[in-house]
Amino acid sequence: MLTLGGALRPSSDRPLGRWNARSPTSARDRSLYFVHFFPTLFGKDAVAMQPPVVCTPRDRSFTNPLSSIRYLKPGFMSVQIIVGAQWGDEGKGKIVDHLSKDVDIVARYQGGANAGHTVVIPTKGPNGVTSKEYVLHLIPSGIFHRHVTCVIGNGVVLDPVALMTEIEQLRGLGISIKGRLLISHNAHLIMPYHKLLDSIREQGENRIGTTGRGIGPAYIDKYTRTGIRVVDLMNREVLCRKLKQNIEEKNELLSKVYHSQVLDVDEIINEYQEFDKKIDEYVTDTSAYLNSALKKKKKILAEGAQGAFLDVDHGTYPFVTSSSPTSGGACTGLGIPPTAITSVIGVVKAYSTRVGNGPFPTEQLNETGERLRKVGGEYGATTGRPRRCGWLDVASLRYSIRVNGIEKIAITKLDVLDEFDEIRVCTGYKVNGRTMGNFPTDVQTLESVEPQYRVFKGWRTRTSDFRSYAKLPAPARKYVDAIGSMLETRIWMVSVGARRDQTLIVK
Ligand code: IMP
Ligand code: MG
Repeated sequence: MLTLGGALRPSSDRPLGRWNARSPTSARDRSLYFVHFFPTLFGKDAVAMQPPVVCTPRDRSFTNPLSSIRYLKPGFMSVQIIVGAQWGDEGKGKIVDHLSKDVDIVARYQGGANAGHTVVIPTKGPNGVTSKEYVLHLIPSGIFHRHVTCVIGNGVVLDPVALMTEIEQLRGLGISIKGRLLISHNAHLIMPYHKLLDSIREQGENRIGTTGRGIGPAYIDKYTRTGIRVVDLMNREVLCRKLKQNIEEKNELLSKVYHSQVLDVDEIINEYQEFDKKIDEYVTDTSAYLNSALKKKKKILAEGAQGAFLDVDHGTYPFVTSSSPTSGGACTGLGIPPTAITSVIGVVKAYSTRVGNGPFPTEQLNETGERLRKVGGEYGATTGRPRRCGWLDVASLRYSIRVNGIEKIAITKLDVLDEFDEIRVCTGYKVNGRTMGNFPTDVQTLESVEPQYRVFKGWRTRTSDFRSYAKLPAPARKYVDAIGSMLETRIWMVSVGARRDQTLIVK
């Protein structure tokens, strides 16, 4: 294959900023590269006549020795997106923590305090180094690395109570946030009435099984254009007017439709003005900040919350959250251009879990499911609810990879499967005896599919003590490699425990 010295792009398996040579991918690409890189042979007009080079996201960011070529992006923008590829709780917190070593900024782009990102950090105690678990709901998991600036983007719905609790917790741990936490002035605020409406709606027949954090009602207000944003806190008059309008409307709804208690306008105004004083130092135009950071070639990690199947557009609607956890949400939720995205990493748990209601084809309502829950500690980090558990579902993951554009995968919690004699993976669905080509996102079909399973031999070995992927027991590697093959996507990392050192890079 023809390799051109100039065709450099960042290696996806090395820390950002390091480079390796790659060859062009298709015959058409090769001829285009040839014309572009050797214009003296073909003349300048030949370059101008060429259609735009079709590039993969990573190709776009290669260093272009002929930076005058208009189709290629000058300079190197670096935004990696981390997405949950299933129903959330894949272990994104740990992967973000791992990648934070090599980035400058970690930015949350959607959701709110419904998320629970768990990070296990080594701490020095009287008995030497031990590990401690921290759960973050709003502040990006990168906060545990002192060199990282954390951003809460405009796509997030911000709960002041949850935010202040988290800031206090971090301060208590001696983690300085001053100058390291930036909150978008355009983020919408969660109000007490959002939580109240969330819990009242969940008492009805069509309950979703929400976290009760007011997420849905806050996004409803955002899209009906009555929401209150962080920027509104800055102006007492505007805040009072908007709050009054909102509370009067919500009180009508609460008393007449839901026959519930009504809210006190003045009490809420006072509470939120207090909050304004506390968060003032963190508020800024984060979109402007991120774009200026991109110009300075800073490395950004966009941290998604929840997972692809909870996406309001691409998930198992209506049993979804109200935001866009898929990679597309990162651009609108942070105010950065799609052209700045360099890679998308999908986090996949070695089996499946789901909290809340909705279809779950590989759910195991039996001893297997209970065992996965017990060994995996599958209880919600935000609500404490037991998670529904089942086998890995490659049929749904193919869809997730497509929608997110996932290029490499981190598999988490492989060690949870250590003691199983056999492990199953759903490779496809049948409906009425017929194989389905595509993942159905309508609930009726998804609830009636029959998962088709491939059975793998268990490895019956404790993997959490291994520090090299190559040394894992052969059946464990076979399981991981088969997932990569079935998904036609590279497995980049395997996690065999919650601690930082229990992370194996797949070479
Ligand atoms: P909401 O986001 O609280 O409105 O809940 C909507 C659905 O998303 C429910 O099924 C929740 O259990 C689920 N959900 C929300 N956040 C998370 C999360 O961080 N992990 C897993 N499921 C979540
Ligand atoms: Mg979680």
